[in-house]
Amino acid sequence: MRNGQTDEIAKLVEPGRVHRRVYADPDVFELEMERIFGRAWLFVGHTSQVPNPGDYITTDLGRHPVIMCRHRDGSVQVLLNRCSHRGPKVLNERKGHAARFVCCYHGWSFDTDGRLVAVPVPEGCGEGFNKDALGLRRAARVGEYRGFVFASLAASGSSFEDHIGPMKGSIDDLVDRAPDGELALDVGMHRYIYNGNWKLQVENVLDSYHVPFGHASTVNKDGVQFARREGDQKGAAVIETKKQQTSSSWKDRKSYIVGNGHGWTSNTTLDDGKRSSAAFDEYKRVLSEKVGAARAAEVLTPRLHNSLIYPNMSIMGLNIHVRVIRPLAVDRTEVTIYPVRLLGAPESMNFGNIRLLNVTHSASSFVQTDDLESFIRAQKGLRSSLTDWVDISRGLGHEEPDRELNATRGLATHEMVVRAQYKAWLGYMREAA
Ligand code: FES
Ligand SMILES: [Fe+2]
Repeated sequence: MRNGQTDEIAKLVEPGRVHRRVYADPDVFELEMERIFGRAWLFVGHTSQVPNPGDYITTDLGRHPVIMCRHRDGSVQVLLNRCSHRGPKVLNERKGHAARFVCCYHGWSFDTDGRLVAVPVPEGCGEGFNKDALGLRRAARVGEYRGFVFASLAASGSSFEDHIGPMKGSIDDLVDRAPDGELALDVGMHRYIYNGNWKLQVENVLDSYHVPFGHASTVNKDGVQFARREGDQKGAAVIETKKQQTSSSWKDRKSYIVGNGHGWTSNTTLDDGKRSSAAFDEYKRVLSEKVGAARAAEVLTPRLHNSLIYPNMSIMGLNIHVRVIRPLAVDRTEVTIYPVRLLGAPESMNFGNIRLLNVTHSASSFVQTDDLESFIRAQKGLRSSLTDWVDISRGLGHEEPDRELNATRGLATHEMVVRAQYKAWLGYMREAA
């Protein structure tokens, strides 16, 4: 695909359909790693994961292993996790704490801002050896909004503000739910890998069409009964809520797009009476005390309910969590689900939210496993080259402007958000370096 690849890529996306190669062709995947995950603003982590100087997490941005850490001056750094001597990953753990990052191979040590601070047996270094030039490389650009840290590995391209601007409301909606106005992703995670392309999960987070079918065993009566039999009242409550959502209001819900591949689905009140419990009522009381009753009512009806911050992060409003999508290969993807701890909310409510996620989005849950099965089956079907095209045409031509939200609107059971993702995808993929 190297020669004339831009022209070739353009042929893979048509109005209302995409070619199967976008999911199944390893060459397309390699180009995605270069042109999307090597350039775009990607979610890296949340500042609450590195509260103190020396705290770090490690992850990968596309093909590039990175460290997100807290430096002594309080700044959050995103550094390439690759020793500048002979190349090994300097930090091997998913998270930890260290005053210095020391390479396992020859002991070079780096400060938490990436500077090379010590080289064992320095007398062996040549005359031109310049420690200042051999620090860990920094991500070209780093941006943060209310604790959410994003990085771009490209020095040029759209600014953080231009990229994230339209989706700040989604982050606000989530963070404002915390009575103290702050949240933390510090209560563990669910993490799993499925044998399918990364875009299958990205497309799915705003796909309302699949819910009654893909999750039939969850949203029908038997699913509810199963949860009750298991004695998990919390799980039963969620599933009951899902059942309601997928009845009358399901076909009327709206989706919104704002460019850059981002989107969200319309609000569902979090205060519909079905959630009432001692913990939730106490939460409402604390929230009202902090922000006033009128604002508390607004906060409990978030406008940007489930959202996608393209290409690698989603905020889910009901079973409250932040989801990160990491492509591993053309047919292999890692998903991380971070439960959200709302600071200032009763601990019993935060604990209840974590328990809910065990029921809905763990590797052995009711809901997410349904989707993973769909992704795996999709990937298997898309291996076949006897039929080239994947249909994403639902609602094509029925999009309408929403002037109040400065967005484009469509029914949530339509595929407008998927088409918007491919528009952004093509924008990245057509642009040679
Ligand atoms: S490879 Fe890292 S210190 Fe030598
Ligand atoms: Fe789903």
